[in-house]
Amino acid sequence: MSIYREAYSGKRVLVTGGAGAIGSNLCRELAGLGAQVLILDDLSSGFLWNVPKCANVEFVEGDILDEVKLKRVFFDHPQIVFHLAGFFANQNSVDHPERDLLVNGMGTLRVLEYSLLSGAERFVFASSSSTVYGGDAPLPTTEDYVSLRLTTPYQATKMLGELYCNFFFHHYGLKTVKTRFFNNFGPGEVPGRYRNVIPNFIYRALKGLPLTITGSGEETRDFTYVSDTVDALLRSGIFEAAVGQEFNVASGKETSIGQLALAINDLTGNSAGIQYVGRRKWDNKSRRWGSTKRASDLLGFNAKISFSSGLQQTISVFRDHWEEINASADFGGAIPISQSQEAVMVSASAAD
Ligand SMILES: NC(=O)c1ccc[n+]([C@@H]2O[C@H](COP(=O)([O-])OP(=O)(O)OC[C@H]3O[C@@H](n4cnc5c(N)ncnc54)[C@H](O)[C@@H]3O)[C@@H](O)[C@H]2O)c1
Repeated sequence: MSIYREAYSGKRVLVTGGAGAIGSNLCRELAGLGAQVLILDDLSSGFLWNVPKCANVEFVEGDILDEVKLKRVFFDHPQIVFHLAGFFANQNSVDHPERDLLVNGMGTLRVLEYSLLSGAERFVFASSSSTVYGGDAPLPTTEDYVSLRLTTPYQATKMLGELYCNFFFHHYGLKTVKTRFFNNFGPGEVPGRYRNVIPNFIYRALKGLPLTITGSGEETRDFTYVSDTVDALLRSGIFEAAVGQEFNVASGKETSIGQLALAINDLTGNSAGIQYVGRRKWDNKSRRWGSTKRASDLLGFNAKISFSSGLQQTISVFRDHWEEINASADFGGAIPISQSQEAVMVSASAAD
């Protein structure tokens, strides 16, 4: 960690989306390293209680599309920008395609423009494995594979964000890095109708409800614990080899959704079991498994936290913060109980 302290101590760092699942963990780590952290977040899917309360973390509530707020956070010329604010994720974009385009498309362009104009030394972009690789990628998927068979607005706009990063790097020399997250999980993520499978399963398990799998349960994902995701981001923010590149931020291991559900029911003592409903229309990824070779070769990144230990830590934080999590969970009304409601409202086997 000492190389990080040297690199980040005293640095002005802007984190858009810093109240979110990954951003809040990143800000906590940056604050511990002595960086001056500024967060811009409109709290549309993040939570104030998630933001670290430290003297060197400043929170600005606002939209990345709001020029006044952008001027405010770029006034101090942040040296490193982590652009994590995003309209999350596939199902949300299917329901709200215009907002998705505004936030992930225009919002990313604006943050890039301000980063360039204010002289940022580095711009790290939160991209997604579900985006660039579509549903038919060879396994383990390497960064060179690109699919044009993208089927949701979120996939299209995250891809757009990557392409704008390329544009700013090649045309203006802004040092951009694209990090492609594979199913991040861990403390900081609050369950909800647009959230990933792990927080939603844990939430249901702690309520004694059956875990709903939208598919067969044989689908796999590459679950990456949040401290590993943060580690990859920190490396992307400082290492010269990262510039202009795209990296898988993955554990390099596959886990099936069926295995995941069994493990969560077991760890929480939930006896309500598992139920199956149909896949969502856009969810065409049966397996997801990322190659970690490039991140390992160029950044020295290798995920350290095992799936089972990450899961146990996540469940333990859920129990410790149950009141806040339960109050913040957004399922757009009552928690769905019946199977027909489940199919619409629970983000289960597919994750983003
Ligand atoms: N969690 C994953 O598995 C995963 C996978 C792939 C990509 N990503 C990407 O990584 C980033 C962080 O993901 P996360 O899991 O922390 O999601 P998150 O929803 O918890 O965090 C996103 C944050 O951005 C904020 N935000 C959204 N729109 C905004 C706007 N217009 N202006 C300002 N703030 C805004 C939200 O309030 C939230 O705090 C996102 O861009 C997401 O698309 C996440």
